[in-house]
Amino acid sequence: MKRLALGILGSGKGSNCRAILESIRSGELPAEVRVVISDVLEAPILEIAREFSVANAYLPPGEFRTRLEPKSEMELVRMLRDAGVELVILAGFMRVLKAPMLEAFPRRILNIHPSLLPKYPGLEAWKQALAAGDKITGCTVHCVDERIDHGDIIAQSEVPILPNDTPETLHARIQIAEHALYPAAIAELCRSEEAH
Ligand code: GRF
Repeated sequence: MKRLALGILGSGKGSNCRAILESIRSGELPAEVRVVISDVLEAPILEIAREFSVANAYLPPGEFRTRLEPKSEMELVRMLRDAGVELVILAGFMRVLKAPMLEAFPRRILNIHPSLLPKYPGLEAWKQALAAGDKITGCTVHCVDERIDHGDIIAQSEVPILPNDTPETLHARIQIAEHALYPAAIAELCRSEEAH
């Protein structure tokens, strides 16, 4: 099966990045991670890349808070292209991508979000589900477009909300579901590309 070349972008803990790297190592996911890039110098996700001997880089984001400066975003495109990346994986990347990335990788950028989209886009979605009194929430893998937590849904996984859940316990349960869903959704994409 074709091994898809991935580039992973993240700003934080990197637990989804770890799940993807472990899934590749165990042979379940026919892909390779060419590079892990973070806009946060000390982000644990970069440490995880090093642990798995994957190329990694810090990208200085520039002066904006919620997106990359255009110069930085063009540099990001260059880094991903140089690494031969075919599919971009957002794993806790806290900046909204704009034209340079969206045009360089049309329909080739995925994100994972901790709710059953279209419900609860935005930050701390598990808190929104808890506050609404929902009984079920979950996580969603979707294609990235110009709107936040929007774009074609690729895969979803449901997670129950239990009576005694706190934001922390619920978030932890959603993350467990994410770690199964994200590698499986990418593997599915590899299989469907193989079929074409
Ligand atoms: C995940 O919960 C994901 O849904 C959201 O950001 C978080 C990243 O977590 N987009 P991690 O850095 O992969 O642990």
